Amino acid sequence: MDTAGYIARLKREQNAVIAAHTYQSPAVQAAADIVGDSFALAKKAAETAAGTVYMCGVRFMAEGIKVLCPEKRVVLVEPDADCPMARQISPQRVEAFRAANPDVAIVAYINTTTELKAVADVCVTSSSAVKIVRALPNKRVLFIPDQHLGSYVRSQVPEKEIITWDGYCPVHREITAEDVRAAKAAHPGAVVAIHPECPAEAVALADMAGSTAAIIEYILSTDREVIVGTERGVVDRLSLDYPGRLHQLCPEKLTCPDMKLTTLESVAAAMEGAGGEEIVLDAALADAARASLTNMIRLGG
Ligand code: 13P
Ligand code: SF4
Repeated sequence: MDTAGYIARLKREQNAVIAAHTYQSPAVQAAADIVGDSFALAKKAAETAAGTVYMCGVRFMAEGIKVLCPEKRVVLVEPDADCPMARQISPQRVEAFRAANPDVAIVAYINTTTELKAVADVCVTSSSAVKIVRALPNKRVLFIPDQHLGSYVRSQVPEKEIITWDGYCPVHREITAEDVRAAKAAHPGAVVAIHPECPAEAVALADMAGSTAAIIEYILSTDREVIVGTERGVVDRLSLDYPGRLHQLCPEKLTCPDMKLTTLESVAAAMEGAGGEEIVLDAALADAARASLTNMIRLGG
């Protein structure tokens, strides 16, 4: 039996599902029951009836599912897969800011530790950030930790004062306006879809900006060639369905080393108990973080 068949058998035996972010390899996405952006993963994994969820992605995604579903067994397939952005501000700094600015809503990107979610008012993902910030009653918002997504939200919600932190995604922040111009010159008929974790000068040259799910929706809604400015997992997967139509922007830059740790073999090892890490969270911490995540699902739709 090949590895994919073996994984399918283990899933049935264990009443388990596999959740994979859209940055995972095509082979891992094909083995998964739930594939999506950060928002869809949190929402759909919380809805599944399975007792065990194997998370193919990074640590904050596995912890987010455990927070929403404490009764489920949640296993992070690759324990070393961690989003560096998730810990670019400390909870102590956030609490000090709140004490000095009691009118400000603390909005945490979902790419944060559980400790940060616990001190925030609401979480957002790249697909829901604009909608949720707009819906908040507060006029002033502290957006943590991604300065680029924060400044994108500021551009879309000019009626609010949005204070950003200086965090960043080390992968997307490498994209420059010159990279986008060069890709457009190489593919003159193509439109550009980009993730808002990229710097504003690159986002400004794109035809659309959005989460990985929004980028995929955009690709499916057009027959045109698309230059894709997000981690290469999206193009690696969709190029199988649309050969020749998609162009990966800077593939050497847009490869997230943490997302690429997971392989079919590491999924099988985690399912055999020979790898992976079962997520265990302090109950009071999880309760505090759950409020931010359920607010996200309520306000984000
Ligand atoms: P999405 O919110 O689009 O899933 O992005 C997650 C992420 O890690 C982006 O780098
Ligand atoms: Fe984190 Fe960036 Fe990797 Fe997404 S692409 S998981 S934000 S480092």
